[in-house]
Amino acid sequence: MKLKFTWLGHSCFWMEIDGHSILFDPFLTGNPLAAVSANEVSPEIIFLSHAHGDHYGDTLQIAKRTGAKVVTNADMCGYLGKQGLENLHPGNTGGGWDHGIVHARFTQALHSSSFPDGTYGGNPNGFYLTTPSGLKIYFAGDTDLFSDMSLIGDRGVDVAFLPIGDNFTMGPAESLKAIHLLRPRYVVPMHYKTFGLIDQDGRAWGDQVSSLTNASPIVLDPGDSHEIP
Ligand code: NI
Ligand code: MN
Repeated sequence: MKLKFTWLGHSCFWMEIDGHSILFDPFLTGNPLAAVSANEVSPEIIFLSHAHGDHYGDTLQIAKRTGAKVVTNADMCGYLGKQGLENLHPGNTGGGWDHGIVHARFTQALHSSSFPDGTYGGNPNGFYLTTPSGLKIYFAGDTDLFSDMSLIGDRGVDVAFLPIGDNFTMGPAESLKAIHLLRPRYVVPMHYKTFGLIDQDGRAWGDQVSSLTNASPIVLDPGDSHEIP
C-alpha cells in the first residue's frame, strides 16, 4: 500500500490510494498556478472543504463529467443537488463515513463559507482520512490555528496538509504551532503563493519546520508528486 499525492496548486491535491484517486478542493480554472486543467482529472471522490470559489472551483464540471462522488457538508450538498449533481455524500463536523477508498471524518475549520453567488455554504470543514492500510491524513481546509488540533493529533497524523498563506487563513508562524499540536510525521503546505495576498516562501517555511518541529516538511511545486510508502 502506498499513498501518492500531487499538488495541483492552491489547496487542490490529487491523491492516489491503492490505485484509487481522490481530489481535494478542485480550483483549477482561473488558478494561475494550476498544474492541470479541469478536464484532465477523473477522480472517484471529490472532497470539498467549503464553498469559496478558490475551493469549490471546478467541482460541478468535474463531477458532472466523471460522475465522481462529492463529499461535503449537508448545506453544500443541497446547493450542488440543485445544480444537477446526484452522487453526493452529505456530512457535517464530527461525522465520519467509510467510503471504501478512505474513511473520512469532517473536522472543524475556523473560517467562513459561501458560494461565489452568495449562497450560504454552511460551516467550513477539514477532513481526517484513514486509508484501508491505516495511514492517517489530515487536510485542514481553510482555517486558523485552533487548540483542538491537539485532539486530532491524539488520533495520530501521518501527513498533515496545512494552509500557510496568512491573510485568509493561518500563516507560517501559526502553522508551526499547529504542527506542535498535530504531531504529524510529514507536513505539506498549501493555500499560498497563488496570488499576492497569500504570497509566502515555502522553502523558508520548510526550513523552519525542520529546525523547530519533529515533522518532515514536504514542499512541492505545483505539479510535483510525493509518495509515502
Ligand atoms: Ni476560503
Ligand atoms: Mn481559500
